[in-house]
Amino acid sequence: MNLTVVGSYRRPLAASLERLLENALDFEHLPWVHATTFNSIDCSDAGPWGFRATVGLTASNSEVGLELLLDTERATWVSRTVDGRGTSEIWSTAVATGPHSCEVTVTFHVPDMRVETADRLGASYARLYGRLYDEDEAMMVGREAALADRAGTPVRVVEVDGEPCAFKARCPHLLGPLDDAPVIDGVIQCPWHGFRFDVRTGANLDGRRCHLTRVPVPSNIPN
Ligand code: FES
Ligand SMILES: [Fe+2]
Repeated sequence: MNLTVVGSYRRPLAASLERLLENALDFEHLPWVHATTFNSIDCSDAGPWGFRATVGLTASNSEVGLELLLDTERATWVSRTVDGRGTSEIWSTAVATGPHSCEVTVTFHVPDMRVETADRLGASYARLYGRLYDEDEAMMVGREAALADRAGTPVRVVEVDGEPCAFKARCPHLLGPLDDAPVIDGVIQCPWHGFRFDVRTGANLDGRRCHLTRVPVPSNIPN
């Protein structure tokens, strides 16, 4: 099937190229960091080459097949979705512009369509990618800052069943922020990929091999 380029999007990002390539492979963040766009992901295969998954689309409450293939050397990746119109491809390529900055260019390729429809679709893709990259940039900047300051990880103290519990407020998965995540019945859920931890024991509740770091309750916490 012929594909037509309907638009493109270029974006400087305040995070390293390494973070951006990590983000491209990170399928699990889609329904969490981009909850207004995606509401589920079911991955069938993943590796350093990319991933294949079924994703739920929040707005239409429907599902599409998604395949992402990454060429790390060239910092280029393509994501393909298959829906009622056929296969669309979104090509992304990035360059480092500094140790903590890069720029990505995204091009939208869709099955042949009328010019006016193509223009509208191109503009709506560009708006969508603006929003997705706002969300990704906040995550990547937060992760880069947390990686640079592991010694300064903040401690959070919460009360569960009348007992204070103290833990490091960075998720043991990829250092997601746990400073403000709600604690409900002693369970905290990370906003980046949804991992859940029991703050009383640090145990992960999703069968993941990571553990929330508990620390002694600071002595200056009022009883
Ligand atoms: S950083 Fe991934 S679940 Fe917290
Ligand atoms: Fe993302």
